[in-house]
Amino acid sequence: MNLKGRSFITLLDFTPEEIEYLIQLSATLKKEKEVGTPHKHLPGKNVVLLFQKDSTRTRCAFEVGAFDLGMGATYLGPSGSQMGKKESVKDTARVLGRMYDGVEFRGYLHTDVEQLAEYAGVPVWNGLTDMYHPTQVLADFLTIQEEFGTLKGIKFSYVGDARNNMGNSLMIGCAKLGLHFTAVAPRELWPEQSLIDVCEKLANSSGGSLRFTEDPIVGVQDVDVVYTDVWVSMGEPKDVWHSRIKQLHSYQVDRNLMRHASERAIFLHCLPAFHGMDTEIGTQIAQEFGAEYPQVSEGEMEVTNEVIESKQSRVFPEAENRMHTIKAVMLATLGGRDA
Ligand code: CP
Ligand code: NVA
Repeated sequence: MNLKGRSFITLLDFTPEEIEYLIQLSATLKKEKEVGTPHKHLPGKNVVLLFQKDSTRTRCAFEVGAFDLGMGATYLGPSGSQMGKKESVKDTARVLGRMYDGVEFRGYLHTDVEQLAEYAGVPVWNGLTDMYHPTQVLADFLTIQEEFGTLKGIKFSYVGDARNNMGNSLMIGCAKLGLHFTAVAPRELWPEQSLIDVCEKLANSSGGSLRFTEDPIVGVQDVDVVYTDVWVSMGEPKDVWHSRIKQLHSYQVDRNLMRHASERAIFLHCLPAFHGMDTEIGTQIAQEFGAEYPQVSEGEMEVTNEVIESKQSRVFPEAENRMHTIKAVMLATLGGRDA
């Protein structure tokens, strides 16, 4: 398997074998880290991390991953570069590509990361756009594989805003690798039909399947993985909260909903999650909408605190796996070690 020189923009660009290879490489790197085997395979290389939106996991995963591989890393935050204000994406790409061996981008427009990849001349990695979040799916799948020993045939339900970056990317990942994907959401929050059509074809050849339902109980019945994400994503205007709560309050993942999943089911969430009053936004939403929607009155939105803290929750191992999988993506695309 040779992924040297490739960008990582969407899982649609990768074959099932290539995605499986990246997950395997992640597992190997994770084991090496656990037993203290150094893997500085990319000494002397440097990467730049370009963030138009905030991040905890993705930024730290790229930084620690880069350091573990022996590389240097520069972080450019939302106000840290000229891009977008005084300099075009195309010019930024051509400048950064001359100084760095790889570029990570987190931002709004998916076309921006595509343009960076077109002009940088070095691998570009998508750390989240409004449309896709592909490195997150690698971490989610590594976590599922660790739990069940396999990905093929796993019953996976995504509950919530199914047409956001996570809904889209998880549907693609499941379709590519033969999982049975269910989107559980009001119809207007299902993924775009054109993407569903592409994924239907992928699922047909991988042995996976796609299903869409508005009924939360039907949607999680006997599944192995229940996944949710925030109801309002970064970059969406504040005033969508009210309508989104109206659409999704009955899709909150709570203990009762988890009871309908399989006995062996695990709960995943890409994080950050609203599950209490200990965040500014959680408190604000609770105060503003708690009287109308009791579900959110304690700052719990897409998931309850009880589920996040339950035995079924794997959200923190999942977060750790961001680092091992992102490290694998950098290593494979920068060509630091033969497969
Ligand atoms: N899951 C995820 O991408 O988290 P951050 O926003 O903290 O990077
Ligand atoms: N859908 C979320 C994912 C965060 C990791 C967002 O875009 O804000």
